[in-house]
Amino acid sequence: MTLFRGTFLDTPDNPFTGGTLRVATDAALLVEDGVITARGTYSELRNAHPAERVVDLTGGLVLPGFVDTHVHFPQIRAVGGMGMPLLEWLDKYALPEEARMADPAYASSVADEFVRGLAAAGTTSALVFGAHFAEAVDTLFTAASRVGLRITSGLVVSDRILRDDLLTTPERAYTESLALASRWHGVGRNRYAVTPRFSLSCTDELLATCHNVLEEIPGALFTSHLNENEAEIATVAELFGGSDYVSTYEKHGLVDHRSVLAHNVHPTDVELKVLGDAGATVAHCPTSNAALGSGLFPLGRHLDHGVRVALGSDVGAGTGFSLLKEGLQAYFCQQLMGDHGHPLTSAHLLRLATTAGAEALGLADQVGDLSVGKRFDAQLLRPADGSPLAVGVAHADDYEEVLARVFTLGTPADIRAVWIDGQLLDDSSLEVG
Ligand code: GUN
Ligand code: ZN
Repeated sequence: MTLFRGTFLDTPDNPFTGGTLRVATDAALLVEDGVITARGTYSELRNAHPAERVVDLTGGLVLPGFVDTHVHFPQIRAVGGMGMPLLEWLDKYALPEEARMADPAYASSVADEFVRGLAAAGTTSALVFGAHFAEAVDTLFTAASRVGLRITSGLVVSDRILRDDLLTTPERAYTESLALASRWHGVGRNRYAVTPRFSLSCTDELLATCHNVLEEIPGALFTSHLNENEAEIATVAELFGGSDYVSTYEKHGLVDHRSVLAHNVHPTDVELKVLGDAGATVAHCPTSNAALGSGLFPLGRHLDHGVRVALGSDVGAGTGFSLLKEGLQAYFCQQLMGDHGHPLTSAHLLRLATTAGAEALGLADQVGDLSVGKRFDAQLLRPADGSPLAVGVAHADDYEEVLARVFTLGTPADIRAVWIDGQLLDDSSLEVG
């Protein structure tokens, strides 16, 4: 057993429905076998457990580990492409790099960079878009297992329009997906996600196969892209006989509480109703939406329809692994929408980056906040002395303001330690900023 002592911030009471930021100063959490078994003031818990080891984190801020609900493992070397909208960016920038994943040795070094980047950003759980090559997906699960991250991922499948070397067939997709799931789903902290790239690159036959695979893997998730870019949406409508984008998945039984669909910048109200009724989640990827010029995310309309929303970094169209940066960009986006924007506080941003993500991934009973009964997945933020963030934190009036400054000025360099199941991740996983 270990007592973690410090200042803990989290959002078990949903700020989107009237809850507020939970703040515990000079507090302690008792962690046994990775699970938080008691919470209280430090003196209370210390008196009750005088012999336990104390990890003293005072002087920093302890937040739940972040949950990234949409990030592409093969794209870490493709961050920073400028000047292109989605379809051109895919063709010229992202997909040539994804094709290199055919080489397992290349994929393995990218997988190492990727998991280190996630951990260094304070991300402890992620729904990861895998690669089009089964062996490359193996290398991702292997690397994630080495670091100890909570990863849900799978084989990305497509059978039309993309470059030939990224295409598969429904039969091969079925066999390879189930083989990967049998190796990794439920093994350690790994789980499987059925992952057609987007309906633009998938025939009805392939999407029907995706449903069959999903039904064969109890506890698996479904993830894809949705309504990201206007040219993409128009092409999907042409390919599917005028149907809306959500229907292309929904008609194959792919829209329910297991579904995490990225972007949804341009939904119709009908689509939002389907998503809300189904209990599906939209992964909001704000830096990606800005970088590719995809548009401004209608968060208020999602909330009005009861659609669950969480955050995704969408590396490599997104600009890095930090969910602090995504939170800030989510805030900017709503500000830029004026009267149509949904006002966001720092507590909303923390909720989006933690508990909302845990709910999306079906992990809310385990992670997302630091309540008794949850696993201790956490990160320590401590800015360098004299840095603008340290100055801002020192002069904030309350912890909502502290957290606003963290989202505004914080970077992976401020994250000093990360724990999963109460275990400190290896220093080596924290070297990359
Ligand atoms: N739609 C299909 N593939 C992709 C991708 O790799 N990134 C983004 N942002 N959108 C996509
Ligand atoms: Zn994406």
